[in-house]
Amino acid sequence: MAAQLSGGMTDLYAVIGNPISQSKSPVIHAAFAASLGHDVEYRAIEAPLDGFRSAIEAFRAAGGLGLNVTAPFKLDAFELSTVRSQPVQRAEASNCLRFVNGRVEAENFDGTGLRIDIEDNLATPLAGRRILILGAGGAARGVLAPLLAGNPAALVLANRSITKAVAIAEIFPGVEPCALDNLGRYTGFDVVINATSAGLHGEVMALSASIFADGALAYDLSYGKGLTSFLHTAKSAGVDRLHDGVGMVVEQAAESFAWWRGVRPATRDIIAQLTKPLT
Ligand code: ATR
Repeated sequence: MAAQLSGGMTDLYAVIGNPISQSKSPVIHAAFAASLGHDVEYRAIEAPLDGFRSAIEAFRAAGGLGLNVTAPFKLDAFELSTVRSQPVQRAEASNCLRFVNGRVEAENFDGTGLRIDIEDNLATPLAGRRILILGAGGAARGVLAPLLAGNPAALVLANRSITKAVAIAEIFPGVEPCALDNLGRYTGFDVVINATSAGLHGEVMALSASIFADGALAYDLSYGKGLTSFLHTAKSAGVDRLHDGVGMVVEQAAESFAWWRGVRPATRDIIAQLTKPLT
């Protein structure tokens, strides 16, 4: 169902974050609107780190209908919202808001976007597969519920500090927590997802080649950064199915568009356009 469509006027949406210049969301949403013939303006808003709430109020006052929310404001979006979907409640983070009759409704499409990318675009159904997620910060937490809903045979969450992984496993039954240092007791994961920020800080995680099963998919949630240190490690371990998070970003954008406007745009062309070689 379309949340709120204003007849005859350009409908206003945005992505909000800090920084925001790296975001591909404006390009993606412009492509969606053009492909469907929708009259949409999609802005990029860089809010001051302590200015999320006032930026949202100003956007609403300007007639904005909905926003995507990126780092570091996903927790603020959760707190600001008045109606929360189940994924938002469990992740305690929101990446998508819409304003409906005075309510601020919150969704989180990161995990659904990831699951659609892995299962549909990369033809890797999760049912019965062994999944390893590296990292237990906000990014990992945001994707767990839809991955578990795919009925994997195992979902191990490995983190440098075990306490965070244990705390998350208590909220998400089915998650097996593990310290990164202890990962040696596991082998043969079909899908290995990097949700750490190690690469962003130029740090390399020591990973044994045996964590990857034959034909494994190595997936880095970051995108547009070429061969990240995680993907490089996977490649050195003989993994040839290497992917970054560009498909996830486009799919979560399509989910957002559908939630706001009642129709889901096709994603294949824009994913192809934004996919960069992993070298
Ligand atoms: P995000 O919102 O991107 O998930 P975050 O909440 O700060 O960011 O979480 C960062 C994650 O990357 C954490 O799981 C962190 O591990 P710790 O909880 O032990 O800090 C992980 N991380 C960052 N640098 C790392 C490194 N060099 N090696 C392993 N894990 C790392």
